[in-house]
Amino acid sequence: MLSWAVRLEGRALWSENADAGVAVYGESLRNFGGTEYRRWDPSRSKLGAGIMRTKRDKSLLLPEEGSTVLYLGAGHGTSISHLHDHLCGADNDLGGRLVAVDLAPRCLRDLTHLAKTRPGLVPVLGDARKHSAWGVLLPRKVNWLFQDVAQSGQVEIFIKACQRFLNVDGVGLLSLKAASERWTGEGEDVLFGKVEEQLVENGFAVEESIKLTGYEDNHVLFVTRRVE
Ligand SMILES: C[S@@+](CC[C@H](N)C(=O)[O-])C[C@H]1O[C@@H](n2cnc3c(N)ncnc32)[C@H](O)[C@@H]1O
Repeated sequence: MLSWAVRLEGRALWSENADAGVAVYGESLRNFGGTEYRRWDPSRSKLGAGIMRTKRDKSLLLPEEGSTVLYLGAGHGTSISHLHDHLCGADNDLGGRLVAVDLAPRCLRDLTHLAKTRPGLVPVLGDARKHSAWGVLLPRKVNWLFQDVAQSGQVEIFIKACQRFLNVDGVGLLSLKAASERWTGEGEDVLFGKVEEQLVENGFAVEESIKLTGYEDNHVLFVTRRVE
């Protein structure tokens, strides 16, 4: 088990379904010891891909159950749904809070639908760069922040969001898509190396940079800790 709700069986990742009987994106459901789990597809979820590819303890990528977290670039809720399984559980028994921000109205439609049966999930129609519009939802800093906005300037967006919302010593996960950055023609590894330098210069320790190759090509998941 990676957490009370997330388990690896062979090469397959599963999370205990907080909304029994319901699949979110067509994933399979299966019973383990009388408890229903949903298959977590790492090729549809960068958090899932990171968990599969990390060389460290897989549970280090998950937030503390029952805590409040911030997720920027929530999409249609694929990763969000599994994260919610872990963070909140059925009927939000664990008292978690998952603030999920996306600027696309069609994503918000899906997230709002998901939130109806998943208390603790807080969908926000907003821009990750415009903290003043939604920051009121997070009166206290969090210990876990995930960003997957796949747009140019994503590193600066991440740094600013962490400075505002992430506690010192908190974990910040940045999913970086090479093609979204200004391309200088020097190759992906150089680009990823420069991003790592930029993160360090801005007060982050980069604990691991996980290549998601095979699940999401040209993507790296930076696992950082805010140190100042
Ligand atoms: C690759 S998708 C996210 C997929 C999702 N993280 C998952 O694993 O299920 C990127 C999302 O970022 C959103 N996005 C892009 N720029 C954004 C911004 N500035 N603020 C908030 N969301 C943004 C897009 O609307 C899109 O839904």
